[in-house]
Amino acid sequence: MSQDSVSPNARSRISELRQQIDDHNYRYYALDEPSIPDAEYDRLLNELRTLEQQHPELITADSPTQRVGTAPLDSFVSVRHEMPMLSLDNAFSDEDLTAFDQRLKDRLKITGDIEYACEPKLDGIAISILYEQGKLVRAATRGDGTNGEDITDNVRTIRSVPLQLRGSDYPERLEVRGEIYMPSEGFAALNKRAAEAGDKVFVNPRNAAAGSLRQLDSRITATRPLELCAYSVGVHQGMALPARHTDILHLLKQWGFKINREMIAARSIAECIDYHQQLGEKRASLAYDIDGVVFKVNDIATQEQLGFVSRAPRWAIAFKFPAQEEMTELQAVEFQVGRTGTITPVARLTPVFVGGVTVSNATLHNRDEIARLDARVGDTVIVRRAGDVIPQIVGVVAERRPANAAPIEFPSRCPICDSPAVQVPGEAAIRCEGGLICPAQRKEAIIHFASRKAMDVDGLGDKLVEQLVDKELIKTVADLFTLTAEQVAELERMGPKSAENLIAALEKSKQVSFERFIYALGIREVGEATARNLADYFGTLQALSEADEEALQQVDDIGPVVARFVRDFFIEPDNLAIIQKLRELGVHWPEKTPQAADDTNDQPLAGQTCVLTGTLEAMTRDEAGEKLRALGAKVAGSVSKKTAFVVAGPGAGSKLAKAEQLGVEVLDEAGLMALLQQHGIS
Ligand code: IVH
Repeated sequence: MSQDSVSPNARSRISELRQQIDDHNYRYYALDEPSIPDAEYDRLLNELRTLEQQHPELITADSPTQRVGTAPLDSFVSVRHEMPMLSLDNAFSDEDLTAFDQRLKDRLKITGDIEYACEPKLDGIAISILYEQGKLVRAATRGDGTNGEDITDNVRTIRSVPLQLRGSDYPERLEVRGEIYMPSEGFAALNKRAAEAGDKVFVNPRNAAAGSLRQLDSRITATRPLELCAYSVGVHQGMALPARHTDILHLLKQWGFKINREMIAARSIAECIDYHQQLGEKRASLAYDIDGVVFKVNDIATQEQLGFVSRAPRWAIAFKFPAQEEMTELQAVEFQVGRTGTITPVARLTPVFVGGVTVSNATLHNRDEIARLDARVGDTVIVRRAGDVIPQIVGVVAERRPANAAPIEFPSRCPICDSPAVQVPGEAAIRCEGGLICPAQRKEAIIHFASRKAMDVDGLGDKLVEQLVDKELIKTVADLFTLTAEQVAELERMGPKSAENLIAALEKSKQVSFERFIYALGIREVGEATARNLADYFGTLQALSEADEEALQQVDDIGPVVARFVRDFFIEPDNLAIIQKLRELGVHWPEKTPQAADDTNDQPLAGQTCVLTGTLEAMTRDEAGEKLRALGAKVAGSVSKKTAFVVAGPGAGSKLAKAEQLGVEVLDEAGLMALLQQHGIS
């Protein structure tokens, strides 16, 4: 088909769709204010793709459909930067920062404060992107600062990189510099996929970003969750730029780039020190890794006056945060047995300060993970602690392996009860087969039974359970209710008063709800939500314990695997005997009308799904959830078009935004209270 024969309709719809998609990209990345759900975005993109397939002659390089990558290259071509890409000097303390500021004042012969731009130092890969007449023409890595590599094909696949600058008022040549990085969520998902497929996983988001950009096949890069954040301008011709760095970045935002929302202008070095402190506190909650703060003299004329020494500008400095990765020695591996018998290898490490805390243990997960890392006792390992996530061993420093490093032997018997330890088919986990014979499993089962979301026995902590089991005062959860205050008072760190409190707490816990009781039983894969679904569906213990696998699979979210675990639990005579004893000792709950028998549910909020977010004052979110459920509502964790309403307290974030975007009704705490009261719940 020649261009002329294309219907004007197709041509104008294509251009309209491109415009809309570019606008949505801009809203999503640069403004951080998406206005449509992802599904709607995908629909627009699909429509455009279909139209372009029908009219291939209308495809242009800057069409949003062209972010899927192109044919692989043989190698990357070297690029010489017109302006060198510099590096930064480092500060390691507040004193270093003050000294830096003083040096600048001395050099400038001024006494007044200097204004600085403060930006997070993103932990990714530096990039230079060149635009001519508003079109992206080339993207290059920093390389050695003078020569980099042409990775244009790869960079074009990244959605937050504009292929065409927005508006019409921009320099005819413009080099934008910034950092390409992988947000934490995308990194975790990418590694999960890689692990499931048996592929190599990345050590950290920075390596993942670097590896993704180093692909000769840009179609692979296109599948990686990369983002660009712009932080400066290099070459620019044909238009004067604002006099302050922060204003230049705001202009970049108008041209379509994402800039960092944490960026501020500080009026003095004292404000910079505060900023570093505050961003450090916020670090763990950011959606991406940062390794420090960059401070830049905000006035461009002053920057030029200061110039640079060798490879670094005099007008900027990086103040690093404590490292999130450190090296230490793997001294030993011990094996812990969990509630369901899973044997977990735990690394004992030479204590090391990382991510703001001293770490001396880290989980090694399972045998596959040890094989993947090829970790041996005596090895130097890389420990990572990012945010509040538990410390991980992410790699082994192969060059430092001592000659006597010993391979890690997985036990063939349980280290606690000596029952056989077997690999469950289809799982990475190794399990102790001892069941409740195994004191470790027994302890964990009792700890779980007493925990807050289960029977909620106040004051029955891990250490106490350990003593009770070791002294053979209890064997099963039912034995808890036969304990006497005298027995408990004898235990370490207990006295008559605390013993009595514990007995009272046990007594109080006997009155429970059916769902909590099911959850407390510790059936494999039956978490709170599944326990609740089972309770709602069956209503009574008798119905639940008699249900076969087919009946169990009628329950929301229960598939064949969980149905099997539930069935296995209730045909085990020991389990039935324990339940029987619990009831004889007074554990009770109000039974319900089962959903299974009652399809005409007349609860006031039946059929409505709600979401709770932010903080509430009069009660916790869990309590609010229980009350709403009592009225028949379902409480979900994420907002969708089907959500009936969202309860949002102070601090609500993305869920509230999503609700507003989808037009879902939002209640504040007062609105929630009114709703509850209306139905007789306070
Ligand atoms: S400015 C002359 N700003 O840190 C100024 N750099 O050694 C040079 N980086 O590899 C860079 N976040 O990629 C600047 N907000 C930021 C940054 C940043 C991360 C990286 C940059 C470079 C290294 C500087």
